[in-house]
Amino acid sequence: EKGGWPSFMSKEVSEEPEAIANTLRGRINNGAVEIPELDGLDGLFEGISRIVVIACGTAAYAGQVGKYAIEQWARIPVDVELAHEFRYRDPVIGPDTLVVSISQSGETMDTLMAVKFARERGARTLSICNTQGATIPRESDAVVYTHAGPEVAVASTKAFVAQIAALYLLALHVARVRGTMSAEAIAEQVDELEAVPTKIQRILDTESARITELAHWMADTRSVLFLGRHVGFPIALEGALKLKEISYIHAEGFAAGELKHGPIALIEPGQPVFVIVPSPRASALLHSKVVSTIEEIRARGARVIAIAEEGDAAVLPTADEVLRIPLAAPLIEPLLAVVPLHLFAMGLATAKGLDVDQPRNLAKSVTVE
Ligand code: F6R
Repeated sequence: EKGGWPSFMSKEVSEEPEAIANTLRGRINNGAVEIPELDGLDGLFEGISRIVVIACGTAAYAGQVGKYAIEQWARIPVDVELAHEFRYRDPVIGPDTLVVSISQSGETMDTLMAVKFARERGARTLSICNTQGATIPRESDAVVYTHAGPEVAVASTKAFVAQIAALYLLALHVARVRGTMSAEAIAEQVDELEAVPTKIQRILDTESARITELAHWMADTRSVLFLGRHVGFPIALEGALKLKEISYIHAEGFAAGELKHGPIALIEPGQPVFVIVPSPRASALLHSKVVSTIEEIRARGARVIAIAEEGDAAVLPTADEVLRIPLAAPLIEPLLAVVPLHLFAMGLATAKGLDVDQPRNLAKSVTVE
């Protein structure tokens, strides 16, 4: 069933373009986003005053990326909470709260219990799920399925990008219903989304070999740091989680702006640091801040691997390695920037001779609390 690929994970990363294309399919009509599953829910989307996203692990990082899009496009405040934390506090939620759960399996016990808890508290619930008919969508008022196809490797990859695509569709759908975006502005974002599969394919085609080589050189590395800003921040967290999970290497992701508030003390000569560089076209300010972060850590001996858009020359004199992603709108970048990180984690685990599909101590679906 691996279709000639050495592992399910390598097959599933190769399916990231398709996972997004299939998730978009049938939900875009002439530049407008219309999710058939959400027909009849306009009143709900008009009535809510906030959204709480609940999920665990990689799905929670997808939620953090989604927060930027929902707030920017649909103008609804969003909190992202780990399901197991949400449930054991006394959260302020009620009928004006939409609780959006995200789960590949639809069976994660922590997330399921949080959905039930939210319902008991009177919140409305919507599930983003990859498994038809799973328990979490059955326990929710509405569901938007991701169509990533079955994910077998324990580490989530194609489901992660499909979750972000579904959240973006949801954000644009709600933006239309609430009138927070013009039809033209929505159509522009739709175009950007539809271009993502081809752009990811380009990264897979042009960067895979280099990333595998890089991972081989780094097989003895004991710790890797990941930095990002804005939507690059949750991608840094995702890059670190994948590395811990399948390579058993200590890894941490930070918001780049947080560095000087503590973590920069970790930088010593030779420390590998991945830095996700935002496009200079979207925000020269954000871009220049990340470039100066690279300069600061380089001055302290860090070995910097930058993930930057094609043509961004500012990173060349500062970074040790530059992995390129195609040009895209700012909110689209995380869908591209994560691909080299998935390839890297897989490359490193492979270089260490580990089973990338079945990492130690982990199960694909965590059905206990
Ligand atoms: C990481 C990973 C886990 C899952 C998490 C939630 O690669 O796979 O962090 O994302 O256990 O699982 P689901 O999405 O099935 O609820």
